[in-house]
Amino acid sequence: MAEYMNGIKRTNYNAQVTKELLGKEVVLTGWTAKTRNLGSLIFIDLRDRTGLVQLVFDSETNTELFEKAASVRNEFVLAIKGIVRERAPEAVNTRMATGEIEVFVSELRILNEAQTPPFHIDDKANVSDVIRLKYRYLDLRRPSLQSKLIMRHKIAKVARDYFDENNFLEIETPFLTKSTPEGARDYLVPSRVHHGKFYALPQSPQIFKQLLMMSGFDRYIQIVKCFRDEDLRADRQPEFTQIDLEMSFVEADDVISINEGFLKRLFKETLNIDLPTPFLRMPYKEAMERYGSDKPDIRFGLELKDLSNFAENCSFAIFSNAVKEGGAVRAISAPAGHFTRKEIDKLTEFVKTQGGSGMAWISVGETENRSSVSKVLTADEIQEIIKLTDSKAGDLICIVSGKSNTVYTVLGALRCELAKKLELIDESKFAFLWITEFPLFEYSEEENRYVAMHHPFTSPIPEDIDKIETDPANCRANAYDIVLNGYEIGGGSIRIHDNKLQQTMFKALGFTEESAQERFGFLLDAFKYGAPPHGGLAYGLDRLAMLICGTDNIKDVIAFPKVQNASCLMSQAPDFVETQQLTDLDIAIVEKDTAQDE
Ligand code: AMO
Repeated sequence: MAEYMNGIKRTNYNAQVTKELLGKEVVLTGWTAKTRNLGSLIFIDLRDRTGLVQLVFDSETNTELFEKAASVRNEFVLAIKGIVRERAPEAVNTRMATGEIEVFVSELRILNEAQTPPFHIDDKANVSDVIRLKYRYLDLRRPSLQSKLIMRHKIAKVARDYFDENNFLEIETPFLTKSTPEGARDYLVPSRVHHGKFYALPQSPQIFKQLLMMSGFDRYIQIVKCFRDEDLRADRQPEFTQIDLEMSFVEADDVISINEGFLKRLFKETLNIDLPTPFLRMPYKEAMERYGSDKPDIRFGLELKDLSNFAENCSFAIFSNAVKEGGAVRAISAPAGHFTRKEIDKLTEFVKTQGGSGMAWISVGETENRSSVSKVLTADEIQEIIKLTDSKAGDLICIVSGKSNTVYTVLGALRCELAKKLELIDESKFAFLWITEFPLFEYSEEENRYVAMHHPFTSPIPEDIDKIETDPANCRANAYDIVLNGYEIGGGSIRIHDNKLQQTMFKALGFTEESAQERFGFLLDAFKYGAPPHGGLAYGLDRLAMLICGTDNIKDVIAFPKVQNASCLMSQAPDFVETQQLTDLDIAIVEKDTAQDE
Protein backbone atom coordinates (compact mmCIF):
# COMPACT_ATOMS: atom_id res chain seq x y z
CA MET A 1 0.00 0.00 0.00
CA ALA A 2 1.25 3.42 -0.89
CA GLU A 3 2.04 5.60 2.07
CA TYR A 4 1.63 9.38 2.18
CA MET A 5 3.97 12.15 3.27
CA ASN A 6 1.75 12.52 6.34
CA GLY A 7 3.49 15.35 8.03
CA ILE A 8 7.10 14.71 7.03
CA LYS A 9 8.70 17.32 4.84
CA ARG A 10 11.75 17.00 2.64
CA THR A 11 14.59 19.00 4.18
CA ASN A 12 17.12 18.68 1.35
CA TYR A 13 17.71 17.56 -2.19
CA ASN A 14 20.16 14.67 -2.34
CA ALA A 15 23.08 16.65 -3.72
CA GLN A 16 22.90 19.02 -0.75
CA VAL A 17 23.69 16.19 1.66
CA THR A 18 27.42 16.65 2.05
CA LYS A 19 29.90 16.56 4.93
CA GLU A 20 28.59 19.93 6.10
CA LEU A 21 25.50 18.16 7.37
CA LEU A 22 27.36 15.48 9.36
CA GLY A 23 25.40 14.52 12.45
CA LYS A 24 22.28 16.36 11.24
CA GLU A 25 18.88 14.76 10.69
CA VAL A 26 17.55 15.01 7.13
CA VAL A 27 14.37 14.00 5.36
CA LEU A 28 15.00 12.91 1.77
CA THR A 29 12.72 11.71 -1.00
CA GLY A 30 13.29 9.99 -4.30
CA TRP A 31 13.44 6.77 -6.26
CA THR A 32 15.38 3.61 -5.53
CA ALA A 33 18.28 3.43 -7.97
CA LYS A 34 19.95 0.38 -6.46
CA THR A 35 19.68 -1.89 -3.40
CA ARG A 36 22.32 -4.16 -1.85
CA ASN A 37 21.38 -6.52 0.95
CA LEU A 38 24.47 -7.76 2.78
CA GLY A 39 22.52 -9.80 5.36
CA SER A 40 22.91 -7.52 8.34
CA LEU A 41 23.18 -4.24 6.39
CA ILE A 42 21.11 -2.92 3.51
CA PHE A 43 22.33 -0.12 1.26
CA ILE A 44 19.92 1.77 -0.96
CA ASP A 45 20.95 4.42 -3.49
CA LEU A 46 18.22 7.04 -3.45
CA ARG A 47 17.88 9.10 -6.64
CA ASP A 48 16.34 12.54 -7.08
CA ARG A 49 16.90 15.11 -9.81
CA THR A 50 20.08 16.32 -8.13
CA GLY A 51 21.78 12.96 -7.74
CA LEU A 52 22.22 9.91 -5.53
CA VAL A 53 22.60 9.44 -1.78
CA GLN A 54 23.47 6.18 -0.06
CA LEU A 55 21.01 5.11 2.63
CA VAL A 56 21.99 2.53 5.29
CA PHE A 57 19.75 0.22 7.29
CA ASP A 58 21.18 -1.92 10.08
CA SER A 59 19.35 -5.12 11.18
CA GLU A 60 20.65 -4.80 14.72
CA THR A 61 19.29 -1.31 15.29
CA ASN A 62 15.71 -1.84 14.15
CA THR A 63 14.49 -5.20 12.82
CA GLU A 64 11.11 -3.93 11.65
CA LEU A 65 12.67 -1.05 9.69
CA PHE A 66 15.27 -3.44 8.28
CA GLU A 67 12.60 -5.80 7.00
CA LYS A 68 10.73 -2.94 5.41
CA ALA A 69 13.95 -1.86 3.69
CA ALA A 70 14.47 -5.43 2.49
CA SER A 71 11.15 -5.23 0.65
CA VAL A 72 12.27 -2.19 -1.39
CA ARG A 73 12.91 -2.83 -5.08
CA ASN A 74 14.33 -0.65 -7.83
CA GLU A 75 12.23 2.43 -8.61
CA PHE A 76 10.16 2.28 -5.39
CA VAL A 77 9.39 5.82 -4.25
CA LEU A 78 10.71 6.54 -0.79
CA ALA A 79 10.77 9.18 1.90
CA ILE A 80 13.30 8.65 4.65
CA LYS A 81 14.39 10.33 7.82
CA GLY A 82 17.94 9.72 9.04
CA ILE A 83 21.22 11.04 10.33
CA VAL A 84 24.05 12.05 7.99
CA ARG A 85 27.24 10.23 8.86
CA GLU A 86 30.68 9.78 7.41
CA ARG A 87 31.33 6.68 5.32
CA ALA A 88 34.05 4.28 6.32
CA PRO A 89 37.23 5.33 4.40
CA GLU A 90 37.15 2.19 2.25
CA ALA A 91 33.53 2.96 1.27
CA VAL A 92 34.18 6.51 0.05
CA ASN A 93 33.05 6.90 -3.56
CA THR A 94 34.85 9.80 -5.19
CA ARG A 95 32.73 9.53 -8.34
CA MET A 96 29.60 10.54 -6.37
CA ALA A 97 29.04 14.12 -5.21
CA THR A 98 27.71 12.66 -1.96
CA GLY A 99 30.32 9.87 -1.92
CA GLU A 100 31.83 10.79 1.42
CA ILE A 101 28.63 10.47 3.43
CA GLU A 102 25.69 8.16 3.92
CA VAL A 103 22.38 8.53 5.72
CA PHE A 104 21.66 6.17 8.56
CA VAL A 105 17.92 5.76 8.30
CA SER A 106 15.56 5.90 11.29
CA GLU A 107 12.26 6.10 9.40
CA LEU A 108 11.24 4.75 6.01
CA ARG A 109 8.05 5.46 4.09
CA ILE A 110 7.38 3.52 0.94
CA LEU A 111 5.39 6.20 -0.87
CA ASN A 112 4.84 3.91 -3.79
CA GLU A 113 5.91 0.58 -5.14
CA ALA A 114 7.00 0.10 -8.75
CA GLN A 115 6.77 -2.73 -11.18
CA THR A 116 10.06 -3.91 -12.59
CA PRO A 117 10.67 -1.28 -15.27
CA PRO A 118 11.08 -2.41 -18.89
CA PHE A 119 14.72 -1.39 -18.75
CA HIS A 120 17.29 -0.58 -16.14
CA ILE A 121 17.39 3.16 -15.60
CA ASP A 122 21.01 3.65 -16.35
CA ASP A 123 22.97 5.39 -19.09
CA LYS A 124 24.93 2.25 -19.76
CA ALA A 125 21.93 -0.04 -20.33
CA ASN A 126 21.77 -1.15 -23.94
CA VAL A 127 18.14 -0.31 -24.77
CA SER A 128 16.61 0.54 -28.14
CA ASP A 129 15.37 4.07 -28.76
CA VAL A 130 11.90 2.71 -29.47
CA ILE A 131 11.60 1.28 -25.95
CA ARG A 132 13.18 4.31 -24.34
CA LEU A 133 10.76 6.65 -26.12
CA LYS A 134 7.74 4.48 -25.40
CA TYR A 135 8.57 4.77 -21.70
CA ARG A 136 9.93 8.30 -21.99
CA TYR A 137 8.79 9.18 -18.44
CA LEU A 138 11.10 6.42 -17.16
CA ASP A 139 13.96 7.25 -19.47
CA LEU A 140 13.72 10.85 -18.28
CA ARG A 141 14.73 9.60 -14.82
CA ARG A 142 18.22 9.02 -16.20
CA PRO A 143 20.60 11.62 -14.73
CA SER A 144 22.12 12.36 -18.13
CA LEU A 145 18.72 13.31 -19.59
CA GLN A 146 17.71 15.20 -16.47
CA SER A 147 20.87 17.27 -16.63
CA LYS A 148 20.12 18.18 -20.25
CA LEU A 149 16.61 19.39 -19.45
CA ILE A 150 17.96 21.31 -16.48
CA MET A 151 20.49 22.92 -18.82
CA ARG A 152 17.68 23.77 -21.23
CA HIS A 153 15.86 25.48 -18.37
CA LYS A 154 19.01 27.51 -17.62
CA ILE A 155 19.31 28.60 -21.26
CA ALA A 156 15.70 29.79 -21.28
CA LYS A 157 16.26 31.60 -17.99
CA VAL A 158 19.41 33.38 -19.20
CA ALA A 159 17.49 34.41 -22.33
CA ARG A 160 14.61 35.82 -20.27
CA ASP A 161 16.97 37.61 -17.87
CA TYR A 162 19.27 39.03 -20.54
CA PHE A 163 16.57 40.30 -22.83
CA ASP A 164 14.54 41.66 -19.90
CA GLU A 165 17.61 43.60 -18.75
CA ASN A 166 17.86 44.99 -22.28
CA ASN A 167 14.27 46.26 -22.29
CA PHE A 168 12.66 43.43 -24.24
CA LEU A 169 9.06 42.58 -23.34
CA GLU A 170 7.77 39.02 -23.42
CA ILE A 171 4.50 39.02 -25.33
CA GLU A 172 2.54 35.96 -26.42
CA THR A 173 1.18 35.52 -29.92
CA PRO A 174 -1.60 33.19 -31.08
CA PHE A 175 -1.26 29.52 -31.99
CA LEU A 176 -4.59 29.37 -33.79
CA THR A 177 -3.82 31.63 -36.67
CA LYS A 178 -3.40 31.94 -40.42
CA SER A 179 -0.68 30.33 -42.45
CA THR A 180 2.75 31.93 -41.88
CA PRO A 181 5.24 31.92 -44.70
CA GLU A 182 8.37 30.16 -43.41
CA GLY A 183 8.43 27.76 -46.31
CA ALA A 184 7.36 24.49 -44.67
CA ARG A 185 3.98 22.77 -44.74
CA ASP A 186 1.48 23.98 -42.15
CA TYR A 187 -0.16 21.95 -39.43
CA LEU A 188 -3.84 22.70 -39.83
CA VAL A 189 -6.58 22.79 -37.20
CA PRO A 190 -10.15 22.54 -38.47
CA SER A 191 -12.64 25.08 -37.24
CA ARG A 192 -15.89 23.70 -35.82
CA VAL A 193 -17.66 27.04 -36.06
CA HIS A 194 -16.53 28.05 -39.53
CA HIS A 195 -17.43 25.27 -41.89
CA GLY A 196 -14.58 24.29 -44.20
CA LYS A 197 -12.12 26.70 -42.62
CA PHE A 198 -8.86 25.92 -40.89
CA TYR A 199 -6.47 27.59 -38.54
CA ALA A 200 -2.80 27.04 -39.23
CA LEU A 201 -0.41 26.52 -36.34
CA PRO A 202 2.35 29.11 -36.65
CA GLN A 203 5.61 28.12 -38.32
CA SER A 204 6.95 31.13 -36.40
CA PRO A 205 5.43 34.27 -34.85
CA GLN A 206 7.00 36.30 -37.68
CA ILE A 207 4.01 38.40 -38.73
CA PHE A 208 2.77 38.96 -35.21
CA LYS A 209 6.12 40.16 -33.92
CA GLN A 210 6.29 42.62 -36.80
CA LEU A 211 2.79 43.84 -35.93
CA LEU A 212 3.93 44.31 -32.32
CA MET A 213 6.63 46.63 -33.64
CA MET A 214 3.92 48.58 -35.44
CA SER A 215 2.04 48.80 -32.15
CA GLY A 216 5.08 50.42 -30.58
CA PHE A 217 6.34 47.69 -28.24
CA ASP A 218 9.81 48.41 -29.60
CA ARG A 219 11.58 45.31 -28.23
CA TYR A 220 9.85 41.92 -28.11
CA ILE A 221 10.96 38.48 -27.02
CA GLN A 222 9.10 35.23 -26.71
CA ILE A 223 10.15 31.67 -26.01
CA VAL A 224 7.63 30.02 -28.23
CA LYS A 225 6.63 26.79 -29.89
CA CYS A 226 6.66 26.70 -33.70
CA PHE A 227 5.14 24.02 -35.89
CA ARG A 228 6.43 22.84 -39.25
CA ASP A 229 5.33 19.82 -41.15
CA GLU A 230 8.62 18.94 -42.81
CA ASP A 231 10.93 15.94 -43.16
CA LEU A 232 12.62 15.32 -39.85
CA ARG A 233 16.36 15.05 -39.29
CA ALA A 234 18.63 14.68 -36.28
CA ASP A 235 18.39 18.44 -35.71
CA ARG A 236 14.73 18.95 -36.66
CA GLN A 237 11.42 18.39 -34.90
CA PRO A 238 7.89 19.11 -36.15
CA GLU A 239 7.25 21.22 -33.07
CA PHE A 240 10.27 23.05 -31.80
CA THR A 241 10.95 26.13 -29.71
CA GLN A 242 12.29 29.48 -30.78
CA ILE A 243 13.80 32.25 -28.73
CA ASP A 244 12.15 34.82 -30.93
CA LEU A 245 12.93 38.51 -30.86
CA GLU A 246 12.27 41.71 -32.73
CA MET A 247 13.53 45.28 -32.37
CA SER A 248 12.44 48.65 -33.74
CA PHE A 249 14.60 51.52 -35.00
CA VAL A 250 17.58 49.26 -35.66
CA GLU A 251 19.94 48.11 -38.37
CA ALA A 252 21.49 44.69 -38.85
CA ASP A 253 24.54 45.62 -36.74
CA ASP A 254 22.32 46.45 -33.76
CA VAL A 255 20.54 43.10 -33.89
CA ILE A 256 23.84 41.30 -34.32
CA SER A 257 25.54 43.04 -31.42
CA ILE A 258 22.69 42.54 -28.93
CA ASN A 259 22.72 38.87 -29.86
CA GLU A 260 26.47 38.55 -29.50
CA GLY A 261 25.96 39.95 -26.01
CA PHE A 262 23.34 37.31 -25.34
CA LEU A 263 25.48 34.42 -26.57
CA LYS A 264 28.47 35.68 -24.62
CA ARG A 265 26.38 35.80 -21.45
CA LEU A 266 24.76 32.45 -22.20
CA PHE A 267 28.02 30.57 -22.66
CA LYS A 268 29.53 32.18 -19.58
CA GLU A 269 26.56 31.27 -17.39
CA THR A 270 26.02 27.76 -18.72
CA LEU A 271 29.49 26.45 -19.60
CA ASN A 272 31.71 29.11 -18.02
CA ILE A 273 33.22 29.81 -21.43
CA ASP A 274 34.35 33.31 -22.40
CA LEU A 275 33.38 33.73 -26.03
CA PRO A 276 35.46 36.22 -27.94
CA THR A 277 33.20 38.76 -29.68
CA PRO A 278 32.52 40.10 -32.25
CA PHE A 279 32.05 36.85 -34.13
CA LEU A 280 33.41 36.34 -37.60
CA ARG A 281 31.06 37.50 -40.39
CA MET A 282 31.10 35.85 -43.77
CA PRO A 283 29.00 36.59 -46.85
CA TYR A 284 26.90 33.67 -48.07
CA LYS A 285 28.81 33.49 -51.35
CA GLU A 286 32.15 33.09 -49.61
CA ALA A 287 30.74 30.44 -47.27
CA MET A 288 29.46 28.43 -50.22
CA GLU A 289 32.68 28.75 -52.18
CA ARG A 290 34.96 27.86 -49.28
CA TYR A 291 32.85 25.37 -47.40
CA GLY A 292 30.01 24.30 -49.72
CA SER A 293 27.54 25.26 -47.01
CA ASP A 294 25.69 28.28 -45.64
CA LYS A 295 26.23 26.87 -42.15
CA PRO A 296 29.88 25.86 -42.27
CA ASP A 297 31.66 24.15 -39.44
CA ILE A 298 34.82 26.25 -39.25
CA ARG A 299 36.51 24.18 -36.55
CA PHE A 300 38.49 22.53 -39.34
CA GLY A 301 39.81 23.44 -42.80
CA LEU A 302 39.32 21.06 -45.74
CA GLU A 303 38.19 23.98 -47.85
CA LEU A 304 36.80 23.48 -51.34
CA LYS A 305 39.04 24.20 -54.32
CA ASP A 306 37.53 25.43 -57.56
CA LEU A 307 38.83 23.45 -60.54
CA SER A 308 36.27 24.84 -63.00
CA ASN A 309 38.72 26.98 -65.01
CA PHE A 310 41.05 24.05 -65.42
CA ALA A 311 38.22 21.60 -66.07
CA GLU A 312 36.57 23.59 -68.83
CA ASN A 313 39.29 22.66 -71.29
CA CYS A 314 40.51 19.39 -69.84
CA SER A 315 40.35 16.11 -71.72
CA PHE A 316 37.68 14.52 -69.48
CA ALA A 317 34.30 15.24 -71.09
CA ILE A 318 32.29 14.88 -67.88
CA PHE A 319 34.34 17.67 -66.27
CA SER A 320 34.47 19.97 -69.26
CA ASN A 321 30.76 19.52 -70.04
CA ALA A 322 29.79 20.26 -66.47
CA VAL A 323 31.46 23.66 -66.75
CA LYS A 324 30.24 24.33 -70.28
CA GLU A 325 26.69 23.64 -69.12
CA GLY A 326 27.01 26.30 -66.43
CA GLY A 327 27.98 23.95 -63.63
CA ALA A 328 31.22 23.52 -61.72
CA VAL A 329 34.04 21.15 -60.83
CA ARG A 330 35.30 21.44 -57.29
CA ALA A 331 37.53 19.39 -55.05
CA ILE A 332 38.56 18.75 -51.49
CA SER A 333 42.03 17.54 -50.67
CA ALA A 334 42.02 15.37 -47.56
CA PRO A 335 45.40 15.53 -45.88
CA ALA A 336 47.49 12.46 -45.13
CA GLY A 337 44.47 10.21 -45.09
CA HIS A 338 46.26 7.24 -46.67
CA PHE A 339 42.85 5.93 -47.65
CA THR A 340 42.45 2.32 -48.74
CA ARG A 341 40.54 1.53 -51.91
CA LYS A 342 37.65 0.28 -49.80
CA GLU A 343 37.50 3.54 -47.86
CA ILE A 344 37.55 5.53 -51.09
CA ASP A 345 34.65 3.44 -52.44
CA LYS A 346 32.75 4.23 -49.25
CA LEU A 347 33.34 7.94 -49.78
CA THR A 348 32.03 7.59 -53.34
CA GLU A 349 28.92 5.90 -51.97
CA PHE A 350 28.54 8.73 -49.48
CA VAL A 351 28.71 11.26 -52.30
CA LYS A 352 25.86 9.44 -54.02
CA THR A 353 23.69 9.50 -50.89
CA GLN A 354 24.14 13.29 -50.89
CA GLY A 355 22.82 13.63 -54.44
CA GLY A 356 26.10 13.55 -56.36
CA SER A 357 26.37 11.39 -59.44
CA GLY A 358 29.82 10.20 -58.45
CA MET A 359 33.25 11.20 -57.22
CA ALA A 360 36.53 11.29 -59.08
CA TRP A 361 39.59 10.86 -56.90
CA ILE A 362 43.34 11.07 -56.94
CA SER A 363 45.37 9.41 -54.22
CA VAL A 364 48.67 11.29 -54.30
CA GLY A 365 51.73 9.08 -53.95
CA GLU A 366 55.46 9.77 -53.42
CA THR A 367 56.33 8.60 -56.90
CA GLU A 368 53.10 7.31 -58.40
CA ASN A 369 49.49 8.43 -58.06
CA ARG A 370 46.43 6.21 -58.01
CA SER A 371 43.34 7.73 -59.54
CA SER A 372 39.85 6.94 -60.77
CA VAL A 373 40.46 9.32 -63.68
CA SER A 374 43.94 8.21 -64.78
CA LYS A 375 42.52 6.83 -68.02
CA VAL A 376 40.63 9.99 -68.96
CA LEU A 377 43.05 12.68 -67.80
CA THR A 378 46.67 13.00 -68.84
CA ALA A 379 49.47 12.70 -66.29
CA ASP A 380 50.07 16.44 -66.71
CA GLU A 381 46.43 17.17 -66.01
CA ILE A 382 46.57 15.09 -62.87
CA GLN A 383 49.71 16.99 -61.82
CA GLU A 384 47.82 20.23 -62.49
CA ILE A 385 44.99 19.16 -60.18
CA ILE A 386 47.51 18.22 -57.48
CA LYS A 387 49.02 21.69 -57.83
CA LEU A 388 45.68 23.51 -57.89
CA THR A 389 44.57 21.74 -54.71
CA ASP A 390 47.92 22.19 -52.90
CA SER A 391 48.11 18.44 -52.34
CA LYS A 392 51.07 16.33 -51.37
CA ALA A 393 51.97 12.65 -51.01
CA GLY A 394 49.43 10.79 -48.88
CA ASP A 395 46.57 13.20 -49.65
CA LEU A 396 43.32 12.15 -51.24
CA ILE A 397 41.77 14.58 -53.71
CA CYS A 398 38.00 14.14 -54.03
CA ILE A 399 36.49 15.80 -57.10
CA VAL A 400 32.82 16.38 -57.80
CA SER A 401 31.33 17.89 -60.93
CA GLY A 402 27.82 18.86 -61.92
CA LYS A 403 25.30 21.61 -61.22
CA SER A 404 26.88 24.23 -59.03
CA ASN A 405 24.46 23.88 -56.12
CA THR A 406 24.70 20.10 -56.13
CA VAL A 407 28.49 20.28 -56.13
CA TYR A 408 28.37 22.60 -53.11
CA THR A 409 25.91 20.44 -51.20
CA VAL A 410 27.80 17.24 -51.89
CA LEU A 411 31.24 18.61 -51.07
CA GLY A 412 29.87 20.48 -48.05
CA ALA A 413 28.66 17.16 -46.66
CA LEU A 414 31.77 15.26 -47.76
CA ARG A 415 33.94 17.83 -46.01
CA CYS A 416 32.22 17.08 -42.69
CA GLU A 417 32.38 13.34 -43.30
CA LEU A 418 36.12 13.52 -44.02
CA ALA A 419 36.73 15.67 -40.95
CA LYS A 420 34.99 13.06 -38.80
CA LYS A 421 36.95 10.22 -40.37
CA LEU A 422 40.26 12.04 -40.01
CA GLU A 423 39.35 13.21 -36.49
CA LEU A 424 39.99 16.83 -37.38
CA ILE A 425 37.22 18.22 -35.17
CA ASP A 426 38.08 19.66 -31.78
CA GLU A 427 34.86 18.77 -29.95
CA SER A 428 35.62 21.16 -27.10
CA LYS A 429 35.52 24.15 -29.42
CA PHE A 430 32.56 26.46 -30.12
CA ALA A 431 33.06 28.18 -33.46
CA PHE A 432 30.46 30.89 -34.12
CA LEU A 433 30.04 32.92 -37.25
CA TRP A 434 27.43 35.10 -38.88
CA ILE A 435 26.51 34.37 -42.46
CA THR A 436 25.40 37.57 -44.18
CA GLU A 437 24.34 38.81 -47.61
CA PHE A 438 22.12 35.85 -48.42
CA PRO A 439 20.37 35.91 -51.77
CA LEU A 440 16.92 37.43 -51.26
CA PHE A 441 15.43 34.84 -53.58
CA GLU A 442 16.11 31.29 -54.56
CA TYR A 443 14.69 29.69 -57.65
CA SER A 444 12.31 26.82 -57.03
CA GLU A 445 12.54 24.30 -59.88
CA GLU A 446 9.48 22.61 -58.43
CA GLU A 447 7.29 25.71 -58.46
CA ASN A 448 9.01 27.30 -61.45
CA ARG A 449 9.30 30.66 -59.71
CA TYR A 450 11.42 32.59 -57.24
CA VAL A 451 10.72 31.95 -53.58
CA ALA A 452 12.00 33.92 -50.60
CA MET A 453 15.17 32.40 -49.17
CA HIS A 454 14.26 33.59 -45.66
CA HIS A 455 10.68 34.84 -45.77
CA PRO A 456 8.90 37.46 -47.86
CA PHE A 457 9.27 40.21 -45.22
CA THR A 458 13.06 40.28 -45.40
CA SER A 459 14.37 43.50 -46.90
CA PRO A 460 17.01 43.60 -49.59
CA ILE A 461 20.26 45.38 -48.72
CA PRO A 462 19.65 49.01 -49.68
CA GLU A 463 21.88 49.11 -52.77
CA ASP A 464 20.14 46.04 -54.21
CA ILE A 465 16.52 47.27 -53.94
CA ASP A 466 16.22 47.81 -57.70
CA LYS A 467 17.39 44.27 -58.38
CA ILE A 468 14.14 42.87 -56.95
CA GLU A 469 12.66 43.60 -60.32
CA THR A 470 15.69 43.85 -62.61
CA ASP A 471 17.99 41.08 -61.39
CA PRO A 472 16.33 38.97 -58.69
CA ALA A 473 18.98 36.22 -58.88
CA ASN A 474 21.63 38.65 -57.68
CA CYS A 475 19.59 40.62 -55.18
CA ARG A 476 21.08 40.29 -51.69
CA ALA A 477 19.01 40.18 -48.51
CA ASN A 478 19.65 42.18 -45.38
CA ALA A 479 19.59 38.89 -43.51
CA TYR A 480 21.94 37.09 -41.15
CA ASP A 481 22.15 33.57 -39.79
CA ILE A 482 24.09 32.67 -36.68
CA VAL A 483 25.98 29.43 -37.16
CA LEU A 484 27.65 27.29 -34.52
CA ASN A 485 29.80 24.23 -35.29
CA GLY A 486 28.01 23.53 -38.55
CA TYR A 487 24.47 24.13 -37.28
CA GLU A 488 22.22 27.06 -38.10
CA ILE A 489 21.20 28.02 -34.58
CA GLY A 490 19.34 31.17 -35.54
CA GLY A 491 18.39 33.44 -38.34
CA GLY A 492 16.87 36.83 -38.89
CA SER A 493 16.79 39.96 -40.97
CA ILE A 494 15.94 43.60 -41.24
CA ARG A 495 12.37 43.70 -42.48
CA ILE A 496 10.68 45.64 -45.17
CA HIS A 497 8.70 48.41 -43.44
CA ASP A 498 7.44 50.12 -46.54
CA ASN A 499 4.11 49.09 -47.98
CA LYS A 500 5.16 49.70 -51.56
CA LEU A 501 8.38 47.72 -51.29
CA GLN A 502 6.49 44.89 -49.62
CA GLN A 503 4.04 44.85 -52.53
CA THR A 504 6.95 44.74 -55.00
CA MET A 505 8.40 41.84 -53.06
CA PHE A 506 5.10 39.93 -53.15
CA LYS A 507 4.87 40.57 -56.87
CA ALA A 508 8.39 39.22 -57.42
CA LEU A 509 7.37 36.12 -55.50
CA GLY A 510 4.46 35.55 -57.85
CA PHE A 511 1.62 36.77 -55.63
CA THR A 512 -1.09 38.74 -57.35
CA GLU A 513 -2.31 41.84 -55.52
CA GLU A 514 -5.44 39.92 -54.54
CA SER A 515 -3.63 36.83 -53.29
CA ALA A 516 -1.16 38.94 -51.28
CA GLN A 517 -4.10 40.85 -49.80
CA GLU A 518 -5.93 37.64 -49.02
CA ARG A 519 -3.00 36.05 -47.19
CA PHE A 520 -1.25 39.00 -45.62
CA GLY A 521 -3.83 41.78 -45.91
CA PHE A 522 -3.70 42.62 -42.21
CA LEU A 523 0.06 43.09 -42.39
CA LEU A 524 -0.10 45.18 -45.55
CA ASP A 525 -2.83 47.31 -43.99
CA ALA A 526 -0.72 47.76 -40.87
CA PHE A 527 2.12 49.13 -42.99
CA LYS A 528 -0.17 51.99 -43.95
CA TYR A 529 -0.47 53.26 -40.39
CA GLY A 530 3.12 53.99 -39.50
CA ALA A 531 5.51 51.05 -39.43
CA PRO A 532 8.89 51.73 -37.81
CA PRO A 533 12.10 50.31 -39.30
CA HIS A 534 12.53 46.98 -37.57
CA GLY A 535 14.37 43.71 -37.60
CA GLY A 536 14.95 40.68 -35.47
CA LEU A 537 16.08 37.13 -35.16
CA ALA A 538 14.96 33.75 -33.86
CA TYR A 539 17.10 31.05 -32.32
CA GLY A 540 16.25 27.40 -32.43
CA LEU A 541 16.29 26.83 -28.67
CA ASP A 542 16.40 23.07 -29.12
CA ARG A 543 19.47 23.29 -31.36
CA LEU A 544 21.18 25.71 -29.03
CA ALA A 545 20.49 23.41 -26.08
CA MET A 546 21.67 20.42 -28.08
CA LEU A 547 25.05 22.04 -28.77
CA ILE A 548 25.50 23.38 -25.26
CA CYS A 549 24.73 19.90 -23.91
CA GLY A 550 27.25 18.32 -26.28
CA THR A 551 24.82 16.00 -28.07
CA ASP A 552 24.00 15.73 -31.76
CA ASN A 553 20.47 14.45 -31.20
CA ILE A 554 17.78 17.09 -30.76
CA LYS A 555 15.54 14.55 -28.97
CA ASP A 556 17.94 14.55 -26.02
CA VAL A 557 16.95 18.10 -25.08
CA ILE A 558 13.19 17.74 -25.60
CA ALA A 559 11.16 16.15 -22.83
CA PHE A 560 8.66 14.46 -25.12
CA PRO A 561 10.05 14.40 -28.65
CA LYS A 562 8.62 12.97 -31.84
CA VAL A 563 10.34 10.35 -33.98
CA GLN A 564 11.23 10.40 -37.67
CA ASN A 565 7.65 9.96 -38.89
CA ALA A 566 6.44 12.77 -36.59
CA SER A 567 4.69 10.44 -34.17
CA CYS A 568 5.05 10.19 -30.41
CA LEU A 569 5.86 6.64 -29.40
CA MET A 570 4.63 7.22 -25.87
CA SER A 571 1.23 8.84 -26.41
CA GLN A 572 0.73 7.29 -29.86
CA ALA A 573 -0.09 10.70 -31.33
CA PRO A 574 -1.27 11.30 -33.99
CA ASP A 575 -4.28 9.05 -33.55
CA PHE A 576 -7.79 8.46 -34.81
CA VAL A 577 -10.53 10.48 -33.16
CA GLU A 578 -14.14 9.71 -32.25
CA THR A 579 -16.59 9.74 -35.15
CA GLN A 580 -18.59 12.37 -33.26
CA GLN A 581 -15.60 14.69 -33.22
CA LEU A 582 -15.32 14.39 -36.98
CA THR A 583 -19.04 14.91 -37.39
CA ASP A 584 -18.85 18.09 -35.30
CA LEU A 585 -16.19 19.34 -37.68
CA ASP A 586 -18.01 18.19 -40.83
CA ILE A 587 -14.97 16.14 -41.72
CA ALA A 588 -15.14 12.85 -43.59
CA ILE A 589 -12.07 10.66 -43.88
CA VAL A 590 -11.42 9.45 -47.38
CA GLU A 591 -10.04 5.91 -47.38
CA LYS A 592 -6.58 5.89 -48.88
CA ASP A 593 -5.47 3.24 -51.31
CA THR A 594 -2.39 2.21 -49.35
CA ALA A 595 -1.35 -0.36 -51.95
CA GLN A 596 -1.03 2.46 -54.49
CA ASP A 597 0.92 4.55 -51.99
CA GLU A 598 3.65 1.97 -51.64
P1 AMO B 1 14.00 30.27 -39.29
O1 AMO B 1 13.02 29.60 -40.13
O2 AMO B 1 15.42 30.39 -39.77
O3 AMO B 1 13.58 31.78 -39.02
O4 AMO B 1 13.99 29.62 -37.85
C1 AMO B 1 14.82 30.11 -36.81
C2 AMO B 1 15.62 28.97 -36.21
O5 AMO B 1 14.77 27.95 -35.73
C3 AMO B 1 15.43 26.70 -35.81
N1 AMO B 1 14.57 25.74 -36.54
C4 AMO B 1 14.30 24.50 -36.13
N2 AMO B 1 14.71 23.80 -35.06
C5 AMO B 1 14.25 22.54 -34.90
N3 AMO B 1 13.38 21.93 -35.73
C6 AMO B 1 12.92 22.60 -36.83
N4 AMO B 1 12.05 21.99 -37.64
C7 AMO B 1 13.39 23.93 -37.07
N5 AMO B 1 13.17 24.86 -38.02
C8 AMO B 1 13.89 25.95 -37.69
C9 AMO B 1 16.76 26.93 -36.50
C10 AMO B 1 16.54 28.26 -37.18
O6 AMO B 1 17.73 28.97 -37.34
N6 AMO B 1 10.77 34.01 -38.37
C11 AMO B 1 12.15 33.70 -38.70
C12 AMO B 1 13.12 34.39 -37.80
C13 AMO B 1 13.29 35.85 -38.07
O7 AMO B 1 13.40 36.22 -39.25
O8 AMO B 1 13.33 36.61 -37.08
C14 AMO B 1 12.33 32.18 -38.62
O9 AMO B 1 11.49 31.45 -38.15
O10 AMO B 1 17.77 27.02 -35.53
